[in-house]
Amino acid sequence: MANKKILVVPGDGIGQEVTAVGKQVLDAIAAKFGHSFTYDEALIGHVAIEATGQALPDESLAKMKASDAVLFGAVGHPKYDNDPSAKVRPEQGLLKMRKELGLYANLRPIKLFDELLDASSIKPEILRGADILFFRELTGDIYFGEKGRKNDGDTAYDMAEYSRYEVERIARKAFDAARTRRKKLCSVDKANVLETSRLWREVIQKVAQDYPDVEVEHQFVDATAMLLIKDPRRFDVVVTANLFGDILTDEASQIAGSMGMLASASIGDGTGVYEPIHGSAHDITGKGVANPLASILSAALLLDISFGMKAESEAVINAVDKVLKAGYRTGDIADASTPKDKILGTVAMGEKVL
Ligand code: NAI
Ligand code: MG
Repeated sequence: MANKKILVVPGDGIGQEVTAVGKQVLDAIAAKFGHSFTYDEALIGHVAIEATGQALPDESLAKMKASDAVLFGAVGHPKYDNDPSAKVRPEQGLLKMRKELGLYANLRPIKLFDELLDASSIKPEILRGADILFFRELTGDIYFGEKGRKNDGDTAYDMAEYSRYEVERIARKAFDAARTRRKKLCSVDKANVLETSRLWREVIQKVAQDYPDVEVEHQFVDATAMLLIKDPRRFDVVVTANLFGDILTDEASQIAGSMGMLASASIGDGTGVYEPIHGSAHDITGKGVANPLASILSAALLLDISFGMKAESEAVINAVDKVLKAGYRTGDIADASTPKDKILGTVAMGEKVL
C-alpha cells in the first residue's frame, strides 16, 4: 500500500468536467488496491486569472511542486482567442508550469482501441494495430524563444532555439522507451531548412551510437504528416521538437478516433503532469457531453509513470476497453451504427468505467 498526494488542476472549460471523472477513477483504484491517495486542488488558466490576476498563481505552483503527481485538465477561454492584445493569457499558465517543473518530455501514446476502428476517419485496414508513442519536446523551441514586434508593430518574429543538452535529454528518454517496445525510433525534423533541426539530427545520430539495438530513421516533418495517415503502423517511437510535436499529435489523434481519447504525460525534472491532449473545448463546455476517457487514460499514465503502479494502470485501461467492447460511446466516438441508448454523457461514461 502506498500513500500519495495528488494535485487536481482542472483549469478551464471541459477541463473541469473531465478531471472530476479522472479523479473518481483514481479513487476507485485506491480503494481496490488498498492505497491511500489524498487530494488537493489548484487554479490555473482563465479561472486563475479571474481569481488572482495571474495565469499560474505562485500558490498553485508551490502545490504542484509539493505533490507526487498532477492530474491536469485544460486551459483556455473564448475571450482570449479573438483578442491577441490580452497581456495575461491562460496558456501562459500552462507554459510556465511546464518550464517551472522542468517538464521537458511530453509522452503521447497513440493507440487505437480495436472497438473504435470504425470511429476514425481513416480506413480500418490502414489503422488496425497502429501503436505509436510520441515524445514531444516541451520546454524549448519557438514556443519559448524571444518573440516580439518591430517596425512599429508591422513585423512580428518568434525565435526557435535548441541546445545540445535539451535535445540529448529527450532523445535518451525516447531511445529508452523504444528499447521496451518494437525498437524503432523515428526522429522528425526539418533539417533541410532549419538550423535547430540540423543540431537536432546531429544529436540524435550521436545518441543513437549508445543504442545499437534500436533502428533509427530521420524524417522531415512534412513527409511525416503524410506518412502518419498513409501508413501509421510503420511508426513505433517518434521523437520531435515542441512545435512539430504539437501539430503531429493532433493529426495522430485521428488514428485513435478522437481527441477525446488521447492522454499525455509530461515528465522531466519535477512532478509529473498528466492531461488530455485536447483543450478546453468551449463549443461543448457545460453540455455534459465531453469524452472523459482521455482524462481517465491520463490517470492510468499517472499511476504507471509517477507511481510505478503497473497493475493499477492496466486495471484502468482494461475497464475502458470493457466499456467500449460493451458498445458504450460518447458523442465524439459514436457513429451512425451506435444505438441512441449507448451514447453517454461525461458522467454516465465515467460511471460505466468505475
Ligand atoms: P480543443 O481541443 O479544445 O477542441 C477541438 C475540438 O475537439 C472541438 O470541436 C471539441 O469539441 C472537440 N473535443 C476536444 N476534446 C473533446 C472531448 N474530451 N470530448 C469530445 N470532444 C472533444 O481545441 P480548440 O477548440 O482549438 O481550443 C479551445 C480552447 O482550448 C482554446 O482556448 C485553446 O487555446 C485551448 N487549448 C488548450 C490546450 C491545453 O490546455 N492543453 C490545448 C489546446 C487548446
Ligand atoms: Mg495542441
